[in-house]
Amino acid sequence: MLPSVVVLLMLLSSTCGEDPAIQLILTNKALSYGKAQAKDWIQQNLEHAHFPDISGNIDIGLGSVDYALTGITITKCDLPEPSVEFYPDITGFKTSIYGLSIALTGGWSTHYGLIHDSGSFDMAVLDVNVISAVELGKDPDGHLSVSSISCDAQVGDVDVQFHGGASWIFQPFVDFFKERISDEIQKRICPSVEEMIVKLESHLQAMNVSFDVNQVLSLDLHLTSLPVVASTSLNLGLKGEFYNIKTHSEPPFKLKSFTLPEQQGYMVSVGLSEFTLNSASYGYYSAGLLQADINDSMIPPYCPVHLNTTSVGRYIPQLPKLFPGLPMSLKVYAREVPVFSFQSDVVKLGLQGAVKAFAIQPNGTQTPLFTLNVDSDFSGKIWISDGRLKGSVKMDNVTLKLAASEVGTFSIDAMEKDVRLGVPVVVSLKVNKILDEGFVLPKIKQAQLVNSVLKVEEGFMAVFSDVELFLTDEGLN
Ligand SMILES: *[C@@H]1O[C@H](CO)[C@@H](O)[C@H](O)[C@H]1NC(C)=O
Ligand SMILES: *[C@@H]1O[C@H](CO)[C@@H](O)[C@H](O)[C@H]1NC(C)=O
Ligand SMILES: *[C@@H]1O[C@H](CO)[C@@H](O)[C@H](O)[C@H]1NC(C)=O
Ligand SMILES: *[C@@H]1O[C@H](CO)[C@@H](O)[C@H](O)[C@H]1NC(C)=O
Ligand SMILES: *[C@@H]1O[C@H](CO)[C@@H](O)[C@H](O)[C@H]1NC(C)=O
Repeated sequence: MLPSVVVLLMLLSSTCGEDPAIQLILTNKALSYGKAQAKDWIQQNLEHAHFPDISGNIDIGLGSVDYALTGITITKCDLPEPSVEFYPDITGFKTSIYGLSIALTGGWSTHYGLIHDSGSFDMAVLDVNVISAVELGKDPDGHLSVSSISCDAQVGDVDVQFHGGASWIFQPFVDFFKERISDEIQKRICPSVEEMIVKLESHLQAMNVSFDVNQVLSLDLHLTSLPVVASTSLNLGLKGEFYNIKTHSEPPFKLKSFTLPEQQGYMVSVGLSEFTLNSASYGYYSAGLLQADINDSMIPPYCPVHLNTTSVGRYIPQLPKLFPGLPMSLKVYAREVPVFSFQSDVVKLGLQGAVKAFAIQPNGTQTPLFTLNVDSDFSGKIWISDGRLKGSVKMDNVTLKLAASEVGTFSIDAMEKDVRLGVPVVVSLKVNKILDEGFVLPKIKQAQLVNSVLKVEEGFMAVFSDVELFLTDEGLN
């Protein structure tokens, strides 16, 4: 069950003294869920488990009998609810199972001098206790690491029934055998627990702590510091920065550190700083992607102004005289990195953009006409409902300024007035329609967020959520 708890951490998702831009808290509720899931998983998997052969020899006074128990399979397993706790003393977890009982079946064979004999057996291994402590850490690359700190296993009792061959001869020696077999089993429990932990550790090491999100951005999720384990929670700090894959340059702004509140009513809390979102914004901006070419076919039909010199002439009287009856195109681009700011229940976005207008000559040449600086402020709300991330946006302000003109000066007052009326219409008809439909929350093969709540706070947003796991063999092996 211990690995599954750590897998839960891996699924939610990877240098010293850095502040984390993404924080993750796992609560006791997650441990309870994790151990119940793991119990079912272990129960199912034990039934298909490969049990190692047991062999040895027993001195029966008249020489020694070599014995081997082979082809051992589990026929029944009674797994009590394990206990899994955060263990602050070692920055890790402590797992205890008390009273595990397993019924096994298999074949036996003995060699006593030249006498060879064989048959089958049924065995019950009763009252097995296993207590294991695992430490969490961070490797130099920022991977989460796990290591076994201690393991203690005890087998309460073993009962064996031999069938076939001359089994009646050595059934009386079972009491003799018992302790030996019990020791053999006991000796094997902790190494196999440790083997599982080593396997898990190698999975963690193989995991990428930086992912390409798309062709432009990568997301760095390495641990920024050692995991912090308290009696009721595990806290992980992740780098949480998007980078432009080509330049990998740092944005011109810094992360403001924040404290993610713990919500014991939910399995996980995830805190995402505004820095994370702004680093993505910077990544797109520095890749030169925050620009678009607009021509008249993209202007919605209900718009009273169209992209031709006649229509735009209502704002610039000299335009239709200089360039009569020509279609126009616009190049729209961000002058600065668009910056998001998270405030209590509100997300604000400041856009400093520019629009460069061109007349399209009959031979296709684009003749520059003028450039406007367009600064706008938006504010929006975001929330999670029906498992989807939804939102709404409104424009708070927009100002236009003539930055350059190849057609002489003109007043932008009328244009600014129309933009102030027009943008909110486009926002409500286009943007808010998409935001209202929402986006499905990120889901991976082995886990899904359920009962999620999103809250925007000063400088960060917090998602409190439960998690549904789909444990498979692939998930843990
Ligand atoms: C890790 O990243 C590398 C390079 O980006 C990629 O080739 C590899 O498939 C990734 N591995 C996993 C397990 O995602
Ligand atoms: C407008 O732009 C689109 C996409 O770039 C293009 O397919 C279309 O032909 C253009 N229309 C005109 C009238 O230039
Ligand atoms: C210019 O746009 C107006 C709409 O504002 C339209 O009626 C007119 O046909 C367009 N002229 C050309 C030359 O495309
Ligand atoms: C296209 O037409 C414009 C205006 O008539 C002219 O100034 C320009 O030289 C022409 N360009 C080409 C490549 O023919
Ligand atoms: C809009 O922005 C301009 C320029 O920044 C400012 O003077 C004006 O007060 C703002 N209007 C509102 C309603 O915020």
